[in-house]
Amino acid sequence: MAKIIAGVGSSHVPAIGAALDNGKTEEPYWKRVFSGFEKSKEWMARTRPDVAIVVYNDHASAFSVDVIPTFALGCAAEFPPADEGWGPRPVPVVKGHPELAAHIAQSVILDEFDLTIVNKMEVDHGLTVPLNLLFGPPRDAWPCPVIPLAVNVVMFPPPTGHRCYMLGKAIRKAVESYPEDLNVVIFGTGGLSHQISGPRAGLINSKWDKAFLDNLSKDPKKLTRIPHVEYMREAGAEGIEMVMWLIMRGALDDKVEEVYRFYTVPASNTAVGHIILENRRTGAAHKRSAAGKARAAAALRKVARRITTGRAR
Ligand code: DHB
Ligand code: FE
Repeated sequence: MAKIIAGVGSSHVPAIGAALDNGKTEEPYWKRVFSGFEKSKEWMARTRPDVAIVVYNDHASAFSVDVIPTFALGCAAEFPPADEGWGPRPVPVVKGHPELAAHIAQSVILDEFDLTIVNKMEVDHGLTVPLNLLFGPPRDAWPCPVIPLAVNVVMFPPPTGHRCYMLGKAIRKAVESYPEDLNVVIFGTGGLSHQISGPRAGLINSKWDKAFLDNLSKDPKKLTRIPHVEYMREAGAEGIEMVMWLIMRGALDDKVEEVYRFYTVPASNTAVGHIILENRRTGAAHKRSAAGKARAAAALRKVARRITTGRAR
């Protein structure tokens, strides 16, 4: 059976991608941002998910204003990086998992969440920047297949936080009814507080952001009752991206283990937030099996040493 072992929340600020692509990660301004993800990359290297579901929003890259699906699930075999105005980012094509994606589409749609199925799609910074932050800069390929779930937060009305949370639960049910043994990590991306244009451009509300992270960890149901107008008033017009984190949270246990958190301001005009939440049951089981694997490898090395040194015991 496939299972969701953990959730990752991460901002997806495009300037972070530009800093990576232009070799600026060691500059003090950017080092402050990237250093907050060092532990996360270690966590990801230990966790080694078989598949990542990445909840993100398309910023008018794949979908123009002609067509705006509320929830669009990427069922293709691959998703090339989109040209966002200065050429596609120099990152590998994102490989999908069409079998699991089709299974999720079927399960979730028959559960009455009317997803749009997308068989051809390019992906923008909303998806590729969090992959970089958690997996590092890949050479030829991303380390695992990715199922993109694009959510409309660019044109009113976006889905409610409650709807997002319930969709997360339906996604979990779908994953858990997939017969293959796969460890899945789900990402919620975007936010935290930011407003890109207008008189309030540059708005950052750290107090509100931190309360959001606290509740995400401990009392997510409280967050599901926040109306759109509160996100926009408190966290800026683009702060509404934070509803996507509730899809990730809905896919996890009610009680989770917060294993890491990072918050810094600003990156570009945006507050950068990041959290890693493990499912206690499956996350702990996953860790145990990793420890078991390490013990087995150590035992093998011991045997190999005995063989090469010719000792009987
Ligand atoms: C910016 C764009 C985003 O999509 C985002 O989530 C944060 C910041 C920007 O243009 O700075
Ligand atoms: Fe965004």
